[in-house]
Amino acid sequence: MRCPKAVSSAFVVTTLAILSFAAGGSASAQDSAGTVPEVDEEVLLPYVLPEAGPFHPEDIEIENSDAIAAWYRSAHADDAAEAFRHWDEDEGGIRPACSVCHSGAGFRSFHGLDGSAPGIPETPIEVGGVVDCGTCHNQNLGTVTEIAFPSGLMHPVEGVEAACMTCHQGRTAGVTVEEAIAALPDLDAPNAELRFVNPHYATAAASWLGGYGGAGYHYEGRDYYGRFFHAAPVSTCVSCHDPHSLEVAFEPCQTCHLADSPDEIRIARQSYDGSGNTGQGIRTDIANNAALLLSVIGRYADEVTGVPIIYDGGSYPYFFTDANGDGAVDQADGRPVAYASWTPRLLRAAYNWKLVTSDPGAFAHNPPYALQLLYDSIEDLSGPLGMDMADLHLLR
Ligand code: HEC
Ligand code: HEC
Ligand code: HEC
Ligand code: HEC
Ligand code: HEC
Repeated sequence: MRCPKAVSSAFVVTTLAILSFAAGGSASAQDSAGTVPEVDEEVLLPYVLPEAGPFHPEDIEIENSDAIAAWYRSAHADDAAEAFRHWDEDEGGIRPACSVCHSGAGFRSFHGLDGSAPGIPETPIEVGGVVDCGTCHNQNLGTVTEIAFPSGLMHPVEGVEAACMTCHQGRTAGVTVEEAIAALPDLDAPNAELRFVNPHYATAAASWLGGYGGAGYHYEGRDYYGRFFHAAPVSTCVSCHDPHSLEVAFEPCQTCHLADSPDEIRIARQSYDGSGNTGQGIRTDIANNAALLLSVIGRYADEVTGVPIIYDGGSYPYFFTDANGDGAVDQADGRPVAYASWTPRLLRAAYNWKLVTSDPGAFAHNPPYALQLLYDSIEDLSGPLGMDMADLHLLR
C-alpha cells in the first residue's frame, strides 16, 4: 500500500482531473489503517505526482485513467519506497548500475530506448523516477529481443516481458557463488575472505526460469527443473499480474485449480515437507522446508564453524555474528558484525535459502525448482551434522 505523501519540493502538484480517484484511494487507505500522520491540508490534495514525472499530463488520453489509477496505487509508482529513495543522500543521484532497475530513465538508457547507446548509463540518474509509463509503453521496447541474466544466460523475450525480465532477474546467480568458493576445496573450513552473496530482491523472473535460468546454486550431480511453463493462459508475467496494479486475479486460476486462495493451490499428491499433509497448498511445503533449512543453517554454524549465526531480514548483509551464542547480534563500534565465518558449504546453502525466500511468489513461479534447491541445501548440510535425511521424510 502506498505511503502518505508529503508535498515538498520533491513533488509537483498538477491539476489533472482524471487522477482524482487515484488519490482518493490512497487517502481512504490511510484512514482505514488508522495511522493518519500529522500533515498539512495540502497533502490531501488529490493530484500529487513525482516530479521526475511518469508522463506529461497533456499527452495522456482520458481513456488512460483506469490504467493510471491502478498503476498509481502499485509498488511501481510508490516513490516513497526504499527501492526508489535509497539514493536520496547520494551525490549525483542513483548509481548507474542500480538505476537500470530503480528508475524508468535508467531502464530506458540501459536498453538504448532513449536514443543513447545501450548499456549501463554513463552518469547517475536523478532520484525520484519510478517504474513510469514509458518504461513499458515505449515504441522501441520491441527492439529488445533478448535479456542477459546474471548466470550468463541470454533469454529471448517478446513485448513487455523484456521489461519485467530486466528488473526482476536478481543480481547474482549460482555461478557467482561457484566462483567465490571455487578455489576452496575444504567445504567445511571457514574462510575470512568469503562474504554473503545476496541474490537481491523480487527475483520472480529468476525463479520462473528455474534450472535453465541458473539463479540457484546447483549441486553437482543433480538435475534441476527448468522453466515452469505452467499452462497456456498463465504462461507470461502479465497473464497473471495486471501490468498496472500488479495484482494477481484469483478467478482465472479457478478454471483449473480447486482452491479457496492461491495459497491453498496444490496439484502434488505427495508431501514434500515431511508433514504428510497433502491438504495444504504447495506454498506451505515450500515455506516449511525453507524454515527447516534456516534452522539447519543455524545448527551448522553452531556445530561446524563454531561461530553462531543470526539472520536479520531487515538489515544488510542479513547474516550476522553471535560469537558468544547469547542470541543477540554482536556489535562493534555501534554496528552489527556481519557474519564472517562462512564455509563454502554454508555459503551456498544460505544463498539458496535467500533466493527462494526473496520471491514470495516462488510457489506459483516455479514450485519444483524451489523445492529442489531447498532439499539439496538441507541434504548438503546434513552430512557434516550427522543428520539422517531419511528421518526428515522430505521429498525432492
Ligand atoms: C536487475 C535489477 C536490479 C538492479 C541492477 C538493482 N536492483 Fe535493487 N531492487 C530490484 C528490485 C526489483 C527491487 C524490489 C524489491 C521489492 O521491494 O519488492 C529492489 C529493491 C532494492 C532495495 C529495497 C530493498 C527493501 O528492503 O525494500 C534496495 C535498497 C536496493 N534494491 C538497492 C540496490 C542497489 C544499491 C543497487 C545497485 C548497486 C541495486 N539495487 C540494483 C532490482 C534491482
Ligand atoms: C510494468 C509495465 C507497465 C507500466 C509501468 C505501465 N503499463 Fe500500461 N500496459 C502495460 C501492458 C503490458 C499493457 C497491455 C495489457 C494487455 O494487453 O492486456 C498495458 C496496457 C495499457 C493500456 C490499455 C488499456 C489497459 O488498461 O489494458 C493503457 C491505456 C495503458 N496501459 C496506460 C498506461 C499508463 C498511462 C501508464 C502510466 C501511468 C502505464 N500504462 C504504465 C504495461 C505497463
Ligand atoms: C524498471 C524496473 C522494473 C520493471 C521494468 C518492472 N518492475 Fe516490477 N518492480 C520494480 C521495483 C523496483 C519494484 C519494487 C517497488 C517498491 O518497492 O515500491 C517492483 C515491484 C513489483 C511487484 C510488487 C512487489 C511488491 O513488493 O509488492 C510486482 C508484482 C512486479 N513488480 C511485477 C512486475 C511485472 C509483471 C513487470 C512487467 C510487466 C514489472 N514488474 C516490470 C522494478 C521493475
Ligand atoms: C501463474 C501466475 C503467475 C505468473 C506467470 C507470474 N506470477 Fe508473479 N506471482 C504470482 C503469484 C500468485 C504471486 C504471489 C502473490 C502474493 O502472494 O501476493 C506472485 C508474486 C510475484 C512477485 C512478488 C510480489 C510481492 O508481493 O512481493 C513479483 C515481483 C512477481 N510475482 C513478478 C512476476 C514476474 C516478473 C513474472 C514473469 C517473469 C511473474 N511474476 C509471473 C503469480 C504469477
Ligand atoms: C489452464 C489451467 C491452469 C490455470 C488457469 C492455472 N493453472 Fe496453475 N497449474 C496448472 C497445471 C497443469 C499445473 C501443473 C504444472 C506442472 O507441474 O508442470 C499447475 C500448477 C500450479 C501450482 C503448483 C502446484 C503444485 O502442487 O505443484 C501452483 C501453485 C499454481 N499452479 C498456481 C496457479 C495460480 C496462482 C493460477 C492463477 C493465477 C493458476 N495456477 C492458473 C494449470 C493451471
